[in-house]
Amino acid sequence: MGNFLTSSIGKKVIMSLSGLFLISFLCIHLALNLLMLVDSSGDLFNQGAHFMATNPLIKIVEPILMLGFVIHILWASILTLQNRKARPTRYAMNSQSQNATWSSRNMYILGAMILVFLVIHMYNFWINIKLPAFGNTALAHIVVDGVKMEDTYTLVADLFRNSIAYCVLYIAGAILLGLHITHGFWSAFQSVGFSNAIWRKRLECVAYFFAFVFAVGFGIIPIYFIIVG
Ligand code: HEM
Repeated sequence: MGNFLTSSIGKKVIMSLSGLFLISFLCIHLALNLLMLVDSSGDLFNQGAHFMATNPLIKIVEPILMLGFVIHILWASILTLQNRKARPTRYAMNSQSQNATWSSRNMYILGAMILVFLVIHMYNFWINIKLPAFGNTALAHIVVDGVKMEDTYTLVADLFRNSIAYCVLYIAGAILLGLHITHGFWSAFQSVGFSNAIWRKRLECVAYFFAFVFAVGFGIIPIYFIIVG
């Protein structure tokens, strides 16, 4: 088992499983975020965010999610470094000549750019909500249906209403995430051994579907606040 996890294929399996886990988180995150577009009073989104912040099961999952990110980033770095060491010149030749997509050849750089986005994103929201002493905005509280909660909707809305630069950053983040997933999704299934000629095509279609949904879904939120104000 120890040998498997440190072997090249073992590392790829870890990358794949952590990646698929992160995709499942993003599905929930996106569904919750889209509540902002459904109810402009913000109540629905605030209730959703409050549920996520207080539900005991989610509290258990949160550190696992953080660990998922750390493992995915760490293993990606180890694998990329090992690959570069093992075939520095052949890699460069193949990457140009083979029929690989731009995203598949640039997964690490795409991942690194998403990480930069993620650090800024955590500073914008997570820090302001969870560690207000280190934040840059005073988080307001409201009462919805008799329950006092953080006004996360106003935190998000104000960020996008007050800064075109942040809107552009979040749209770029959504597009980078989409590009990362066009390759990452089907390649994850291939790494765990679930792929053949027929399934590869099908999984590629599903990958493009997820990539499109994430890019448009996350990207549309700042666009909505630019338009609606
Ligand atoms: C328009 C796009 C987005 C908006 C408005 C948004 C909004 C938020 C908000 C308000 C929170 C804090 C929730 C809370 O802790 O109560 C949050 C947390 C988080 N977001 Fe986003 N997000 C967006 C896109 C993304 C993307 C693209 C990613 C990943 C690449 C991402 C990853 C995360 C993570 C990891 C957390 C911390 C989860 C936790 O432990 O609570 N978000 N987001």
